[in-house]
Amino acid sequence: MTDHNERVVLAATPEGEPQPGHFCLEQTPLPEAALGEVLCRTRYLSLDPYMRSQISGRHISGGVSPGEVMRGETVAEVVADTSGHFSAGQLVRCMGGWQRYSRHAPADVSPLPEGLSAPSLALSLLGMTGLTAWAGMVWQAQVEAGDTVLIPAVTGGVGSAAAQFCRERGARVIGIAGGADKCHWAESELRVEACIDRHQEDIGDRLKTLAPQGIDVYFDLIGGPLLQLACEHLANYGRVVLCGLMAEYNSATRQAGPPPGLLIMKRAVVSGLVVYDYEARREEFVQACLPLLDAGRISQREDVSEGLATAPEAFCRLMSGDNFGKVIIKV
Ligand SMILES: NC(=O)c1ccc[n+]([C@@H]2O[C@H](COP(=O)([O-])OP(=O)(O)OC[C@H]3O[C@@H](n4cnc5c(N)ncnc54)[C@H](OP(=O)(O)O)[C@@H]3O)[C@@H](O)[C@H]2O)c1
Repeated sequence: MTDHNERVVLAATPEGEPQPGHFCLEQTPLPEAALGEVLCRTRYLSLDPYMRSQISGRHISGGVSPGEVMRGETVAEVVADTSGHFSAGQLVRCMGGWQRYSRHAPADVSPLPEGLSAPSLALSLLGMTGLTAWAGMVWQAQVEAGDTVLIPAVTGGVGSAAAQFCRERGARVIGIAGGADKCHWAESELRVEACIDRHQEDIGDRLKTLAPQGIDVYFDLIGGPLLQLACEHLANYGRVVLCGLMAEYNSATRQAGPPPGLLIMKRAVVSGLVVYDYEARREEFVQACLPLLDAGRISQREDVSEGLATAPEAFCRLMSGDNFGKVIIKV
C-alpha cells in the first residue's frame, strides 16, 4: 500500500469529443475509512459511455463538475473493513471511481460472482454491460429462434454480449461495426451471420439483401440517423429497444426520432431500457450466463489499458468509436 491516493479528476467540461486534456491526474492523501466503512484498492476500472453524459451534467445518476473525481465502477481489493462484512484481500465490486483507493459503506460493496475465470468479467460480460444486453434482448425484446436481430457497435461491451445471447437463443444476428477488422472479428468470433462495415458500406443496401423480410429486433445503442434507417427496415410487429446514443453523446443537441407514422405502419413495439431497473435481477442473469461462459459458448473481448494515467486517453478512444471490445483499465 502506498502513502497517497492517485486519482483522475475532470479538468474542464468538454464541448464535442473529449480530449485527454479535459482530465487531470493528481495525488491526494490516502483516504481513511471511518468506523463501519470499507477501504478498497482498485484493481480494474470500467470505462463507459454514460460518463460522457455525467460530465455534461445530464445523466440520470447525476453530474461530475470540473475538479471532481471521475466516477466509475471498479473491481477492487478490500484493504481494510471495520464493518466485518468483508475480509482483507477479498475482491469486490464497487463504485470506486477513477482512483486507486476509495472508501464505501458496506451496502455499496458487492462480492464478485463465484467461479469467475477473470475478475474483470464482473465489469463486462457478467457485469453491467452484460446485464444491459440480457435485459434488452432477453427480458425486453424476448428474442427467440427465428428472429432476425440487428445490433450496431457489435464488437463493443453491450453489443458483443447481446450478439452472443441472441445467437445462443437461435436468432439470426446481423451486426454493424466500424471497420473491416471489427467486422471480420464479429463474423469469426461472435459468429454473427454478417457484419456491415458502417465506414465502408451502405447499411440500407446491405439490409435489403441480408434481411429482405425485415428486421424483427433492433437493439439501438447508437441513436442518430441509424435509428430511423433501422426502423425503415423493421418487419411488421418489430421490436426496438432504445438503449444508447453513441452517435449523439458528444453533441449538445439531440436528434428527433423516427416519425410516428413509420412506427404505426410497422406496428412496432418500442421500449426504453435503463439497466439500473434490472439491478434486483442481476443474480438471475449471472446464473443464466455463467454456464454459457464456463462451457466456452460465449466470451468477452476486452480493450485493456494499464495504469490510471491511461484512463483519459482510453475514454477518449471510446467516445470516438476507436475501442475494440469492452474498455477496462487495469490499475
Ligand atoms: N440504457 C442503459 O442502461 C445502458 C447501459 C449500458 C450501456 N448503454 C449504452 O450502450 C451503448 C454501448 O455501450 P458500450 O459500453 O458497450 O460501448 P461500446 O459499444 O464498447 O463502445 C461504443 C461503440 O459505439 C460505436 N460508435 C461510436 N460512435 C459512433 C457513431 N457516431 N455512430 C455509430 N457508432 C458509433 C463504436 O463502434 P463501431 O465503430 O464498431 O461502430 C464504439 O466502439 C452506449 O450507447 C451506452 O450508453 C446503455
